[in-house]
Amino acid sequence: MEFSISFYIFSVAAVIAVAVGSWASPVLGSPEKEAKALLESGWWSVEYLNSTTTTPCKLPGVTCNHAATITHISLHNDSLLGMNLGRFLNGSSFPNLVHLDLAGAWLNGSIPPEMGTLSKLNHLNLSYNELTGELPLSLGNLSQLLTLDISYNYPINGSIPPELGNLNSLVSLNLSANNLSGPIPSSLGHLFNLTHLDISYNEIHGSIPIEIGKLKNLHSFIMSGNWLHGPLPLSLGQLTKLNTLSLYSNQINGSIPPEIGNLKNLEILELRSNNLTGPIVPSLGGLDSIKQIDLSHNHFNGTIPTDICSLSTLISLDLSYNSIVGQIPSLGGLDSINQIDLSHNHFNGTIPTDICSLSTLISLDLSYNSIVGQIPSQFYNLTSLTSLNLACNNLSGTIRYLNQQRFSLFDIEGNKDLCFDYVIGYHCLDAPPAATNNQGVIHKVVPHSQKIRVIVVLVSVILVLSSIVLIAIFYICRCKNRKHTQPLGETNTTKNGDIFSIWNYDGNIAYKDILQATEDFDIRYCIGTGGYGSVYKAQLPNGKVVALKKLHTSEIEHPVLNKSFINEVKALTTLRHRNIVRLYGFCLHKKCMFLIYEYMERGSLFCVLNNDVEAMELDWRKRVNIIQGIVNALCYMHHGCTLPIIHRDVTTSNILLNSELEAVVADFGTARLLDPNSSTQSNILAGTYGYIAPELAYTIVGTEKCDVYSFGVVALETLMGKHPKEVLSSLSSPSTQNLLLTEILDQRLTPPRSRLAVHSVVLVASIAFACLNANPRYRPTMEGVSKKFIDRCTPFADHCFHEISIGHLMNPQALCIDG
Ligand SMILES: *[C@@H]1O[C@H](CO)[C@@H](O)[C@H](O)[C@H]1NC(C)=O
Ligand SMILES: *[C@@H]1O[C@H](CO)[C@@H](O)[C@H](O)[C@H]1NC(C)=O
Ligand SMILES: *[C@@H]1O[C@H](CO)[C@@H](O)[C@H](O)[C@H]1NC(C)=O
Ligand SMILES: *[C@@H]1O[C@H](CO)[C@@H](O)[C@H](O)[C@H]1NC(C)=O
Ligand SMILES: *[C@@H]1O[C@H](CO)[C@@H](O)[C@H](O)[C@H]1NC(C)=O
Ligand SMILES: *[C@@H]1O[C@H](CO)[C@@H](O)[C@H](O)[C@H]1NC(C)=O
Ligand SMILES: *[C@@H]1O[C@H](CO)[C@@H](O)[C@H](O)[C@H]1NC(C)=O
Ligand SMILES: *[C@@H]1O[C@H](CO)[C@@H](O)[C@H](O)[C@H]1NC(C)=O
Ligand SMILES: *[C@@H]1O[C@H](CO)[C@@H](O)[C@H](O)[C@H]1NC(C)=O
Ligand SMILES: *[C@@H]1O[C@H](CO)[C@@H](O)[C@H](O)[C@H]1NC(C)=O
Ligand SMILES: *[C@@H]1O[C@H](CO)[C@@H](O)[C@H](O)[C@H]1NC(C)=O
Ligand SMILES: *[C@@H]1O[C@H](CO)[C@@H](O)[C@H](O)[C@H]1NC(C)=O
Repeated sequence: MEFSISFYIFSVAAVIAVAVGSWASPVLGSPEKEAKALLESGWWSVEYLNSTTTTPCKLPGVTCNHAATITHISLHNDSLLGMNLGRFLNGSSFPNLVHLDLAGAWLNGSIPPEMGTLSKLNHLNLSYNELTGELPLSLGNLSQLLTLDISYNYPINGSIPPELGNLNSLVSLNLSANNLSGPIPSSLGHLFNLTHLDISYNEIHGSIPIEIGKLKNLHSFIMSGNWLHGPLPLSLGQLTKLNTLSLYSNQINGSIPPEIGNLKNLEILELRSNNLTGPIVPSLGGLDSIKQIDLSHNHFNGTIPTDICSLSTLISLDLSYNSIVGQIPSLGGLDSINQIDLSHNHFNGTIPTDICSLSTLISLDLSYNSIVGQIPSQFYNLTSLTSLNLACNNLSGTIRYLNQQRFSLFDIEGNKDLCFDYVIGYHCLDAPPAATNNQGVIHKVVPHSQKIRVIVVLVSVILVLSSIVLIAIFYICRCKNRKHTQPLGETNTTKNGDIFSIWNYDGNIAYKDILQATEDFDIRYCIGTGGYGSVYKAQLPNGKVVALKKLHTSEIEHPVLNKSFINEVKALTTLRHRNIVRLYGFCLHKKCMFLIYEYMERGSLFCVLNNDVEAMELDWRKRVNIIQGIVNALCYMHHGCTLPIIHRDVTTSNILLNSELEAVVADFGTARLLDPNSSTQSNILAGTYGYIAPELAYTIVGTEKCDVYSFGVVALETLMGKHPKEVLSSLSSPSTQNLLLTEILDQRLTPPRSRLAVHSVVLVASIAFACLNANPRYRPTMEGVSKKFIDRCTPFADHCFHEISIGHLMNPQALCIDG
């Protein structure tokens, strides 16, 4: 797929001499001029240019008209590494060129003013390059232009030339992900045919010009990730064709103009993370096509107007992190709703029973309000609900078992008189949206000092050995005030001797199914032996393949191993995340101890990296994806749960991969709840040599920063393809610091080539070295790491890739600082 760079890079000087000679005719007509310009562009290889029979019209990516002048040049994604536009346009004109697509072609340098001479141009795509400098004013001369895309050249700076307002045919303008500053020129209001305007992720200041209201054909208006302030102009209400209004992460203040209700075609309204105040305007009820409303992280106050309760097309409503008061209104009319997040407001009153008829509801978050009363009994009709968070209200009553679902204790914690009564069903759920919100800000849940510890005691499982297996399961719950003072697993789950079991996947995994599927744990089904116990693969009668981790009979009596099993159950029934291994069930009994997990087809990251064939399948994109998955999981564990959980044994052996090579974190045998209120935590030394943070050599009090260090090792190991022990042991030596990043990357892969791959690898490497800081205080938190992933911001410009050394990564002030 990737072209070899050498194919395109050649000695320009040598070729120009030969090829110009062969093409130049006595009268230098337009085709000849074009040929010369293409030659001098240096974009095509010797093989193509050094041929007396080839005309430029036959070059790959070039199309000509009948008169043999060039109309289309499309080198989309080709690696024109380090080639620039200036040379191509130097003194030449392409009078008939209508289409120039050089997206993702590694162009560098600035956009030359000569670009303005391509007077017939309809389509100009320069996105995903390394273009720098300012936008030339002459772009305003391209009066035929329909689409202009200069996005993702993030060193492009300066302001947006008002001359762009002359491009009156323009239909699509995309300047996103650059470094553009200054205001939005009001002249853009002249672009009457514009349907798509995207200037997101720049440094734009000022307010939204009133003139935007003239863009009557606008379909999407995307300005998120800038520094816009001032109010939303009333004229927005004139954009009646608008489908998407995305202004999140700015500093827009004032209130929502009621005129917004005129936007009958609006489907997406994203205003989160601004400085908006005032009430949620009732006119929002006029948005007849709306699918997504995100007003979170603002200062909205007042009550929710009942008008918005009739938005039957609405799929997602996020009003979290505002100051909304009063009773939650009857949301009976939200017939399509999947997600409601009203958390972190000042709602009082009770949960409206109407919520219970929202049969499409998947996720409901009402946490951090002042909601009182009982959970309505009709609540159990919400059969689609997979994520529920009622934490930190004043609810009372009983949470019963809901169909297949089982909700984490912590989702409901912080309500004084709430008790549990759920039984049987254990169903692992996907990550609740609360783990990362759409914007990527991690909700940090501050642990409560007055926490109610709910103790779940399993009462009875009768296992009659020999031939008959009877399972009866009950959970008895008690609510009790209690401080957390112990690591996971020391709760009284083992009250009745050692009985503790739960089944249920799709309603019923029975013990006998497990025995049948593994022929009583026959060695043939064993797929590995870990630090303790063995891992079996079993296909259940319903076809589902699961993995079983089983302690050997001799190990069951071993208190540490026994405890680690219970610990794992406690941790995994608390955690629900896409990147954390799912536990389907478990049996903790003195005769037979095993855990049932989702089966991960590709085994551990360690094994994949240590197999040349598999490691090569793991290209840069997949590796970065795996690391991102680990970040998500650890961030969720450290920051997404009411009580943070540290893993304490993050290694490549404990990262498992599914058939899509996506990662989950597994093995929570040594995980520990972090309770800031407890002073008597037991700290047993846990971890694997080579991944243990250096401070654990002199202290046994591990913090989540130990996981961060181990993560750094895992991330680096994933990039290097092997454990970075030499690098780690000599980090302070100049010879290590002088090593280039390109030298330590896994040499079994070709170096990252596409801009995205280069950028991602540099991002991961810089994060990894930050995590490997010997001083835990200077390591980032996983929340910080996650944010870096989302911002995709590195201290290095991508074109510095080949110069980046370990020293630079350790001390990112040193090189090619980008902006
Ligand atoms: C170009 O082609 C001519 C004739 O085929 C050959 O002699 C010459 O070496 C070629 N030059 C390059 C740079 O390949
Ligand atoms: C360019 O590359 C991107 C990323 O690899 C790919 O998604 C896109 O389809 C490619 N475009 C073309 C025209 O080949
Ligand atoms: C463009 O990249 C090439 C190759 O990396 C480099 O030699 C050249 O100096 C760069 N030009 C600019 C203007 O950055
Ligand atoms: C443009 O061409 C002139 C003469 O042909 C040359 O001196 C100049 O260096 C060229 N500029 C660029 C950017 O290639
Ligand atoms: C320009 O190219 C990029 C990269 O392939 C693509 O995503 C984008 O849609 C193109 N822009 C236009 C306006 O076609
Ligand atoms: C092109 O733009 C430049 C700068 O805006 C201007 O000076 C020049 O007259 C324009 N050329 C044409 C042909 O319109
Ligand atoms: C734009 O960036 C270049 C370096 O790439 C710098 O020389 C120039 O001053 C910057 N211009 C503005 C307006 O920031
Ligand atoms: C705007 O679009 C309409 C309809 O497509 C077209 O007739 C008109 O010529 C366009 N205006 C400009 C200035 O290109
Ligand atoms: C947000 O608005 C408040 C007043 O409502 C003001 O005090 C504050 O400075 C504003 N913040 C920003 C970042 O504009
Ligand atoms: C909402 O906030 C605005 C601005 O801070 C304030 O003027 C107004 O009185 C508040 N309204 C309510 C109902 O609290
Ligand atoms: C709920 O809050 C509203 C507005 O702050 C207040 O007027 C009302 O009395 C409160 N109701 C209850 C039951 O506390
Ligand atoms: C809940 O379900 C029961 C039967 O399953 C039904 O009788 C009742 O009307 C439902 N309640 C609501 C609010 O839909």
